Amino acid sequence: MRAAAESPSKAIVSGEHFVVHGAWALAAAIDRKVRVEVSDSDRLTIASDRVRSRDSARLRPLETVVRAMAREYSFSPNVSVSVRSDVRPGTGLGSSASCLVALAAALSALHSLGLGKAELVRLSMEGEREVHGRPSGIDPAVCAYGGVILFRQGRAPTRVAVPGSRSLLLAYSGKQRRTRDLVERVSRFREGNPRLFESLGRSVSEVSRASAGMVSSNDLQGLGRLMNLNQAVLSAVGASDRALDAVAGLLLELGAYGAKLTGAGGGGCVLAVAPEGKEKSIISDLGGRGIESFLTTIPVGGVRSWLA
Ligand code: PMV
Repeated sequence: MRAAAESPSKAIVSGEHFVVHGAWALAAAIDRKVRVEVSDSDRLTIASDRVRSRDSARLRPLETVVRAMAREYSFSPNVSVSVRSDVRPGTGLGSSASCLVALAAALSALHSLGLGKAELVRLSMEGEREVHGRPSGIDPAVCAYGGVILFRQGRAPTRVAVPGSRSLLLAYSGKQRRTRDLVERVSRFREGNPRLFESLGRSVSEVSRASAGMVSSNDLQGLGRLMNLNQAVLSAVGASDRALDAVAGLLLELGAYGAKLTGAGGGGCVLAVAPEGKEKSIISDLGGRGIESFLTTIPVGGVRSWLA
């Protein structure tokens, strides 16, 4: 028997880092996909087109999810897992969450478990904890549900309607980094500045909720302004760096309404919203300066699986 699943990846629009400490955050699925195939086998094997065999330790979180599901649903952990990914790891686009959610969905299809999105998120978190240390759960949630979600730890995500533009612009700042290191850095800032961090967290929660309203009223200019505010706050708590600040600044100069780091920061990607129709010229201007970028839409459905 063979099954497959495909999950979108994601961009955080507002509230990264603060969401780890209880704030509201807003995230969008993006149409860079991870596809996982599983089939019965005589032993557990895992291969990924993004991970060289000498780095196979990076695949351990997948093994954790296979073994956790095998224990919980009483099936054999002897499966062959194969991963194909459009998502560059370490760039803030949720490659690990997307992969783990797709894996849980593929195993659910293989064993006809009929698991819902909330269950897939819960199971993928077994692996996410190994990748990140203390993940908030926003990444697997948006990969599983798709679209745009308003998220707070411990609550079911709220879907946000997207009636207008579904275009997001993403630019690479040129450096890969580990989410775990950045989460620790921001947590140290919080320990040293508890009152400041708490008050910033309350503001970020408001910014996330207001941003959700702007997405549903298609107010891209308003959303852009809030993204710029978010970038300033993320920079203040140590999540940005010179390259990210420079790419975000350049995007504004080129006409974007707003630009901010997305995900853990310290490298990785900048997310921007731009006037409709202007995105292509911004991408070509960035390319002329050696900065790789792309336009993505927001897929609605989230992870999907099938018997192959
Ligand atoms: O860079 P990523 O895709 O790992 O994004 C992580 C987002 C954080 O808020 C920094 C951590 C989390 O688990 O919420």
